[in-house]
Amino acid sequence: MPAVRKICCIGAGYVGGPTMAVIADRCPQIEVTVVDLNAARIAAWNGDDLDGLPVYEPGLAVVVDRCRGRNLFFSTDVESAIAAADMVFLSVNTPTKTSGHGAGKASDLRWIEASARQVASCAKGHTIVVEKSTLPVRTAEAVAAILSQPQVSGATFSVLSNPEFLAEGTAISDLEGPDRVLIGGEDADAIEALAAIYAQWIPAERILRTNTWSSELSKLAANAFLAQRISSINSIAALCEATGANVAEVARAIGLDSRIGPRFLQAGPGYGGSCFQKDILNLVYLCEHYGLKEVAAYWQQVVELNFWQQDRIARLVVQKLFGTVTGKRLALFGFAFKADTNDTRESPAIRIGKRLIEEGAHLAIHDPKVSDDQISRDLGQAPVSKADGFGALGSWESVASPLEAATGADAVIILTEWSSFQSLDWLAIASVMRRPAWLFDARTVAQVDQARAAGLNVWRIGEG
Ligand code: NAD
Ligand code: UGA
Repeated sequence: MPAVRKICCIGAGYVGGPTMAVIADRCPQIEVTVVDLNAARIAAWNGDDLDGLPVYEPGLAVVVDRCRGRNLFFSTDVESAIAAADMVFLSVNTPTKTSGHGAGKASDLRWIEASARQVASCAKGHTIVVEKSTLPVRTAEAVAAILSQPQVSGATFSVLSNPEFLAEGTAISDLEGPDRVLIGGEDADAIEALAAIYAQWIPAERILRTNTWSSELSKLAANAFLAQRISSINSIAALCEATGANVAEVARAIGLDSRIGPRFLQAGPGYGGSCFQKDILNLVYLCEHYGLKEVAAYWQQVVELNFWQQDRIARLVVQKLFGTVTGKRLALFGFAFKADTNDTRESPAIRIGKRLIEEGAHLAIHDPKVSDDQISRDLGQAPVSKADGFGALGSWESVASPLEAATGADAVIILTEWSSFQSLDWLAIASVMRRPAWLFDARTVAQVDQARAAGLNVWRIGEG
């Protein structure tokens, strides 16, 4: 099979954009076109302002700047890009279904199907179709069935699974030095054509080849195992608080066991992000589909514990503030689901924020990267301005600095581990809060000794 010369990626989102930027950067001989139906998103990828790229990732702007217009293109012309490509990546969204059979658990595959149909109708010659999206096991069968319909153009196809393991906030370093790349498929030539692309910068022993179903399932299993670790450490954090143990000490002690390992043992307000919850629910749905009731219940519990952790933190804030937050100003530090991203999908801050708003609190939210519009969409209500009167029960505003957020507040609640929260001036913050004032550090980032010395009551996750 001749080497791949032109790639089209359908979906210019958090995965499609950074992944293709790195492929273009590492393979200057390949022309990469990323297409999307969302014209505003494509315009932002093409914009002069590199700070305005649709995805915020450390290092991304430099890579895009180096390749854009050279061998990396962003376009809304989906048909032409497919027609020109030897290889098409499907990197579209696969959220949880919200209605119909399997609602709340199964993946909504409408975008994958639509993009597969588009490839079927526009491709020319032999085209390798690569599933980059995270998909239920055996989706490749459906994609292949759509592509195997006789095409007027005479195009033929091979389908591969190549799930993406990048984490947001470290996408570029994850893509440049991945633990492994996984390629699942049955067509050896197609597998080698894709492996040859990654081999441009990834050591051969890290490029794994499996059958299609193992590849699709490995992605769901990897996310389930990672999320399970977080629910496990969060369950232990609650027990630490009840018993006087310290979760950071416990995490260190168990993490030094080389069979357990130290990573992904940071207790917090629960995991967020677009994928852990949806991928576990997808796994649960698959288990139920195959009659594995006990296996489904086992994984479902990882999600339940995550919700419980978020609700537990909201309840605890109310309890410590004399059982009521009605009419009180609470400063939320951080809204993104983790540091170094502007992504808020399934962020613990959303559920915790909504619970506190339901209790009548006024939230003063500060996040270095998340826009007001995004917070409005997530909380399902517009911010209030000074003119509306900040006393409005169950309301929120966005503020530019931690100090401004804390002014007049009864509590500061840290929900994202932005590095700037490590060096806050607690003396200054405490001096503008209403007393008695609390710091709730759900991420273990604040200098709590300084906060205590400044007169704040302090609660920290997992500390008895
Ligand atoms: P996203 O929502 O940011 O991007 C998907 C894009 O696809 C959207 O811009 C949408 O407009 C576009 N799209 C949908 N249908 C289309 C069509 N028919 N033609 C053209 N464009 C179309 O999603 P994402 O976060 O990039 O995730 C994509 C997939 O990758 C998901 O399956 C997800 O589970 C998986 N994944 C995500 C991450 C992550 O960190 N976000 C990591 C690994 C895997
Ligand atoms: C996760 C996986 O790490 C990626 O391998 C995977 O590709 C991706 O999901 C996906 O499929 O979308 P991501 O969600 O971007 O990546 O970020 P993580 O670093 O995994 O963090 C997820 C959540 O867990 C965050 O809310 C984070 O704050 C939380 N977390 C993480 C903890 O609470 N404790 C930890 O020790 C680690």
